[in-house]
Amino acid sequence: MGAALLALAAGPVQAKDPLAPTGRWSANERGAARTPPMGWNSWNAFGTRITEDKVLGAAQALVDTGLAKLGYTYVNIDDGWWLKRRTADGRLQVRTAIFPSAATGGPEETSFRPFTDRLHAMGLKAGIYTDAGRNACSQAFDLKSPNLPVGTPEERSVGLYGHVDQDIGLFFGDWGFDYVKVDACGLADYAGKSELVARQHYVPLDPLMERGVLSRTDIAGMRGLYLQVAEALQRHRPNGDYVFSICAWGQANVRAWGKDVGNLWRTSDDITPSWTRMLHTYDSAADRPLYAQPYAWNDPDMLEIGLGDFDENHLTEARSHFSLWAMIDAPLLIGADLQKMPKPLLDILSNADVIALNQDSGGHQAVRAFTSEDFEILVKTLSTGDKAVLLFNRGLAPIRAILTADHLKMARNAPIALHDLWSKQDVPAFTGETSIALAPRESRLFTAKGPRILPAGMYLSELPGAVNVAVDGVVRPEVDPLVHRMVNPWAGSRGPGERPAYGGYGGAQADAAPYGTSLQVAGRVFGAGIGILAGSRMEVRNTGHWRSFAALVGVDDNSRNAGAKLRFYVYGDGKLLAKTKPIAFGEPAVRVNADIANIRLVELVAKPEKNEPLAPASAAWGDAAFLN
Ligand code: GLA
Repeated sequence: MGAALLALAAGPVQAKDPLAPTGRWSANERGAARTPPMGWNSWNAFGTRITEDKVLGAAQALVDTGLAKLGYTYVNIDDGWWLKRRTADGRLQVRTAIFPSAATGGPEETSFRPFTDRLHAMGLKAGIYTDAGRNACSQAFDLKSPNLPVGTPEERSVGLYGHVDQDIGLFFGDWGFDYVKVDACGLADYAGKSELVARQHYVPLDPLMERGVLSRTDIAGMRGLYLQVAEALQRHRPNGDYVFSICAWGQANVRAWGKDVGNLWRTSDDITPSWTRMLHTYDSAADRPLYAQPYAWNDPDMLEIGLGDFDENHLTEARSHFSLWAMIDAPLLIGADLQKMPKPLLDILSNADVIALNQDSGGHQAVRAFTSEDFEILVKTLSTGDKAVLLFNRGLAPIRAILTADHLKMARNAPIALHDLWSKQDVPAFTGETSIALAPRESRLFTAKGPRILPAGMYLSELPGAVNVAVDGVVRPEVDPLVHRMVNPWAGSRGPGERPAYGGYGGAQADAAPYGTSLQVAGRVFGAGIGILAGSRMEVRNTGHWRSFAALVGVDDNSRNAGAKLRFYVYGDGKLLAKTKPIAFGEPAVRVNADIANIRLVELVAKPEKNEPLAPASAAWGDAAFLN
């Protein structure tokens, strides 16, 4: 009674101000993905035509080739494993015709435990596949598959919907899996009025999303369903020994919230073994370094090395694909048949130096230091403070590339040493700039050592793994046009062609403004810094025990809103350390300094003076840096 009265007296609960400092890191830190997951998945090689032999063959190959020792430990089965959901109690049944070891009891009593025990005994981990809706992708797009679920509409409802706790408990408890990939076709393709549902007799589910149309997607609803999975994983594996892979193909704005919910989230639709399709999925992740950190990784989809444009006749392409995935901290999930993998491709997958970049403990996804449709330079900060740099020829013309000290954020007047991670050769040191020839589709990958521009500090854009974009200021999510568009591998040139489809446009950018323009305030261009919309809050870990924060802040010259005035705030462990006066569009950048010695978490807030809900201004944190 007393408590009830008190609650009444307190009045309605106030919604929490998302820009208020919290003093805590809010991105996901649960699960076993301190570094990007590595392993093998059955889909690219076998589709739904999987068998226990094929999967165990891949597992054995991981061990025999030494790949497992290099870190490739997850063996993940994809779509095709299920038979049906048992009517009596909703328990999922394994298709024992293809996984014979799962026939542990009568016809209705199956278990994956013998299978996962085998993998565990080999020193490997086991992954399984499901869908957040009632039905999976194969039940919509692979109707000729011999391995589709069978039975009544309810029995064929094999996805998590309405069974999250039960299924996650089964996978991670009884069956002993360690990794789950949760697809999303069930939330997109099974509308009651659809021809598919009528013809195939499925239990319908009102779609939560329309692909490529964010205004017709229930973003909060989708996030909520994936959050339920995350919570179930916590309940059934409280020790955190699990990996949660969100497979919503860049839809539903997952490129913004995936990091808060899962360990990895697909940033695009499926990869195929085509060079230009690889560029597409790569681009969907490459502009998002500020959205990935330890335990939470952008996922441009599984590797195609060994297949199509990346087979043994295309070693240049295969090396480029692998180098890109390594540099952007993508999960390294081999997708081809490992039992047939030619030696030169195994050598690519086994390059320990390249793997080490991907698994570097800093978790700093590479940032694009030069970008064009033809050629790119990617730079990744390593936990040692050294850099890795990739020169990447995207196209079919040879290129003489120029790499500068500026690209590396290193001093122009001192020698920079390069070590080639493929040839294992040292390249003669250069000062200022050097030129390097690249064949079509070739890339060159180096570690680089030299004095940094900031001798006693790092720009925050060099430390994206220490930055969490807690609130990115995007009010109305927009699809991102800055992703390579190729001839769609499924439709060919039928239809209108590839449309922009993945939310995240306007998100925070390292060394650029939110919509990809140059970071600049009143004509002053910043080579380093973070561009983010106003109405935003970033959390930055002071991992290096830095002593001070400094930035030059203002309204970006390409702001979509030139009327708003912005104030910039710096907090340390939840307490205000510094703030600016209101700054108008066109005003020169204002210096902000804060003492952060002994501070663990710095929060950077850019706030409009008046709420401008439709067109947030672009805030520039120019030269934002941690210094000693
Ligand atoms: C979707 C996913 C793929 C694969 C298939 C299985 O297309 O994006 O990675 O899991 O479903 O049907």
